[in-house]
Amino acid sequence: MPPALLAQRIEKRYGRTLALRGVDLEVAEGELVGLLGPNGAGKSTLVKIACGLVRASGGRADVCGSPAGSAAARASLGYLAELFRFPGWYSADELLELHQRLTRSTGGAAERLELLRLVGLDAARHTRVEAMSKGMQQRLGIAQALVGGPRLLLLDEPTSALDPVGRRLVRSVLEGVRNRGVAVVLNSHLLGEVELVCDRVAIMRDGLIVADGTPAELARPRGVEIDTDAGTELVPAARRDDVPRLVAELVGRGTPVYGVRVLAGTLEEVYLEAVGEATS
Ligand SMILES: Nc1ncnc2c1ncn2[C@@H]1O[C@H](COP(=O)(O)OP(=O)(O)OP(=O)(O)O)[C@@H](O)[C@H]1O
Ligand SMILES: [Mg+2]
Repeated sequence: MPPALLAQRIEKRYGRTLALRGVDLEVAEGELVGLLGPNGAGKSTLVKIACGLVRASGGRADVCGSPAGSAAARASLGYLAELFRFPGWYSADELLELHQRLTRSTGGAAERLELLRLVGLDAARHTRVEAMSKGMQQRLGIAQALVGGPRLLLLDEPTSALDPVGRRLVRSVLEGVRNRGVAVVLNSHLLGEVELVCDRVAIMRDGLIVADGTPAELARPRGVEIDTDAGTELVPAARRDDVPRLVAELVGRGTPVYGVRVLAGTLEEVYLEAVGEATS
């Protein structure tokens, strides 16, 4: 089985701006990868290249084994753009019908109802887009991206307008989609959300991937903090297994120990370390 997405040495130049400077990214079948990074890092550009909406200046991208932009690649993916606007006069159901025609899906009314149920919009299936809140439109956008049963789902900040309940719903939608073997690339600025739902996280900065790993690998331990009568001491190299020895040594020397904390790193700390103060 070829990977859902294989990007190799991707470069993208917009005039004088070098938006991507040799990006390598592989997303396996059924893998949920979060793409993080400051504004302007190149996340949307990378996703648009995978979609075939933007042509890379260098490198190659394949979607399910076919070159990005080819008919076969486009047929294998679903996409929700960062800044999308659906025609206001369509109802939710009509919008999905339009996308069924565009993707030549033969799923009919059953597929539309299943997708609207999945994103919690079945009761709003006759509501027009213009009468929907932004969050409802975003959930409709996710349903739209799933029309035709894609193998790769590319979602560019799909939860930016959602309230906490909507975000949780989208998380469970993504988990359900992944369990069906669909790969997902999720662009987001919401570190907590990415940490909760993604199998892997890639952090971009200035057109490059600067960190890549599972949330647990990235959020590595940061040592052990010990409170004594001399104050709080950080032992950066220490891990949980070292705690009994450290405490025994201190107590053996007559130093009272008031508290011990094993510090786990957070994705936020890893992110800030990886991107520095970069923002544009
Ligand atoms: N159509 C375009 N023409 C010229 N420059 C562009 C174009 N699209 C993107 N860029 C530039 O390419 C770089 C990467 O932009 P991109 O939109 O991919 O970043 P991003 O990581 O998605 O940012 P954000 O978090 O703000 O969505 C930026 O410097 C941006 O200004
Ligand atoms: Mg973007």
